[in-house]
Amino acid sequence: MASEGALSRRAIRAAASAERGAGLNIRPAALADVPLVIALDEEVTGLAKPEYWRQTFDRFGGRGRGERFFLVAERQGRFEGFIVGEIRAWEFGSPPCGWIFAIQVRPKNRLRGVGTELYTALCECFRRAGVTSVRTMLARDNPTILSFFRSQGMMAGPFIELETTLL
Ligand SMILES: CC(C)(COP(=O)(O)OP(=O)(O)OC[C@H]1O[C@@H](n2cnc3c(N)ncnc32)[C@H](O)[C@@H]1OP(=O)(O)O)[C@@H](O)C(=O)NCCC(=O)NCCS
Repeated sequence: MASEGALSRRAIRAAASAERGAGLNIRPAALADVPLVIALDEEVTGLAKPEYWRQTFDRFGGRGRGERFFLVAERQGRFEGFIVGEIRAWEFGSPPCGWIFAIQVRPKNRLRGVGTELYTALCECFRRAGVTSVRTMLARDNPTILSFFRSQGMMAGPFIELETTLL
């Protein structure tokens, strides 16, 4: 259970972030956002994946609404970043849970609360859909994303990931 100190620190951070996030609009992604998502992802990862993002929009931006969410952040009409997640049930025996599997913010506008606003909006979608826990997975060599999710109060969960190489 989180301590009172941790809770108030989180409340202070949330208030500061809300202030920094002022003027930011978080809305469901539209088809016109897809090229912007593709370009941002290429800028961040160095790899262009246009087909992947078109398919992701198809699955999460349209028909999938309700349990699948693809949100974008914009300020004064300018695209600032996006987040993608969905509710999954009973995989690995887990009750319904919100999963976050992509978040990216324009490098020029980081550390201004955009990521926090995207995360908060997605969690609100999960909450409204009735789930009470949120999960994600991250690369061990990405301290920024670890620091970001820790700042949102996320901690190690009850599952561990295993993998092997197929020869
Ligand atoms: C992670 C990311 C989404 C954060 O977006 P952001 O808009 O900068 O986040 P916020 O401004 O809301 O930051 C919230 C908190 O996260 C933590 N944080 C964010 N960036 C950080 C950094 N570079 N170093 C350390 N902590 C960081 C801080 O605790 C910060 O709170 P603070 O500013 O009060 O210290 C953004 O850095 C990003 O797009 N990274 C690259 C994409 C990526 O690796 N995605 C994961 C794979 S999909």
